[in-house]
Amino acid sequence: MENNENSKDKQLDQFRATNKGEKMTTNQGLRVSEDEHSLKAGDRGPTLMEDFHFREKMTHFDHERIPERVVHARGYAAHGYFELYESMKEYTKAGFLQDPFVKTPVFVRFSTVAGSRGSAETVRDVRGFATKFYTEEGNYDLVGNNMPVFFIQDAIKFPDLIHAVKPEPHNEMPQAASAHDTFWDFVANNQESAHMIMWHMSDRAIPRSFRMMEGFGVHTFRFINEQGKVRFVKFHWKPVLGIKSLVWDEAQKIAGKDPDFNRRDLWEAIDMGDYPEFEFGVQMIDEEDEFKFDFDILDPTKVWPEEEVPVKIIRKMTLNRNVDNVFAETEQVAFHPGHVVPGIDFSNDPLLQGRLFSYTDTQLIRLGGPNFHELPINRPVCPFHNNQRDGYSRMTINPGPVSYHKNSIDQNTPSTATEEEGGYVHYQEKVDGRKVQRRSDSFKDHFSQARLFWNSMTELEKEHINEAFSFELGKVQSKDIKQQVVNMFANVSQQLGVSIADAIGVKGPKDVKESSVTKSSLALSQEANP
Ligand code: HEM
Repeated sequence: MENNENSKDKQLDQFRATNKGEKMTTNQGLRVSEDEHSLKAGDRGPTLMEDFHFREKMTHFDHERIPERVVHARGYAAHGYFELYESMKEYTKAGFLQDPFVKTPVFVRFSTVAGSRGSAETVRDVRGFATKFYTEEGNYDLVGNNMPVFFIQDAIKFPDLIHAVKPEPHNEMPQAASAHDTFWDFVANNQESAHMIMWHMSDRAIPRSFRMMEGFGVHTFRFINEQGKVRFVKFHWKPVLGIKSLVWDEAQKIAGKDPDFNRRDLWEAIDMGDYPEFEFGVQMIDEEDEFKFDFDILDPTKVWPEEEVPVKIIRKMTLNRNVDNVFAETEQVAFHPGHVVPGIDFSNDPLLQGRLFSYTDTQLIRLGGPNFHELPINRPVCPFHNNQRDGYSRMTINPGPVSYHKNSIDQNTPSTATEEEGGYVHYQEKVDGRKVQRRSDSFKDHFSQARLFWNSMTELEKEHINEAFSFELGKVQSKDIKQQVVNMFANVSQQLGVSIADAIGVKGPKDVKESSVTKSSLALSQEANP
């Protein structure tokens, strides 16, 4: 296989505009002689409609904005490549994971979740870590976060979560912060969020730099090898510089002094040739071991403890080029967890399943119609052929009368590929035929891993979590919500519940009994608190 490290750069070259030494023209190519005075009827008269250059310039300006992403609006991206340490042939047939000598171009966008496009970057929030691999078998997207779990277990709750997290609709406050009533009310009423909230209140939510944070695919995916053997997998990014966070006081001051702190850091590091690097790791569980754990491996609020399922480091990603144009690349890029290649497939994680619908749906409106895959940043480096046609801003010219499969008029239309020819064949999992709207009982254990997380923290880290809870929850108006949250987190640790209660002036947690149904022996054995 050819080393295609620069294939994306070469493709983008074709679209890069160069104005150097050129005469100004209209969009029709007509040379422009005047760009400072519009055409008027007399020295002091009104502007004339006839001035096509004025009209075109103004109209284009008037239409410069597109909707920002409904979540992860504030983001920054860079180009790079990634290379393997060893072949993953034994585990997956994915072409880009076979040959250690092949470098695959990537485009990575880091983001905050809640704030708008202009919000400060050092806020307490989850960070997005989305990677597009331009492989020779098509684009593969790993759309992850810097925390290994998520707030909810089922995609149907995502609109509720985001409505609660985002600024409140009646006054649009607070911008990009979890310090408000609807956020904590959602938490108290959705106790599955406990584990994620522990991460969210930890130093992981205020990374020092995009270069110094981990990334996680969060969901369980599948690897499938040439022989058809299946393993469940979770994906990890590990920063070569290590994991570093700000302290809260710094984060707040920096937000005021330099709201662009994280993007500036990324831009400058790449600009100086100090290229950010991330190692890529996988955790794997054989398909037949699916039920050997005391949590459901489909539950996105649970990690696979690394002591039980080690992370195998398989490759490294290097970010070595800043974008040429933030709008064209960073804004117009369209990631989707459903962009997979042969050898990688989905699991039935109910959060992942819903995401598979959401991304294209939102991009259809954000990027104006069904042809955004033709935008330079979204084009695969391999050719793409099908019978799609028309739609807003179609750029491809498909000749001939036939745009349907199958036909007997034109033999040159695209035909489907067999599996041997690289055709994607969905994994034929056997599924239970009953329609249900519930999940297995272990999905109801909301506190064991949250407790495991708390118990793994150092004293200083615990202090930071305490302070974060007290600050964020302290801003909540409703005493009732505060009390519910204190009671909820006493399920994680009585000590934590008591100290938050003291700090925010509510009653100490009642002698809270764990409200979850299933007790995880894994976590209970580690519980240090009474
Ligand atoms: C962006 C939906 C959960 C990571 C987005 C966008 C939507 C969305 C609509 C905006 C996409 C765009 O405008 O291009 C959802 C839904 C979820 C969910 C419905 C759950 C049901 C998650 C989870 C993760 C995640 C669990 C991490 C594993 C991201 C990232 C972005 C994003 C990183 C920004 C991508 C970029 O930089 O363009 N999500 N999301 N999301 N989501 Fe999710």
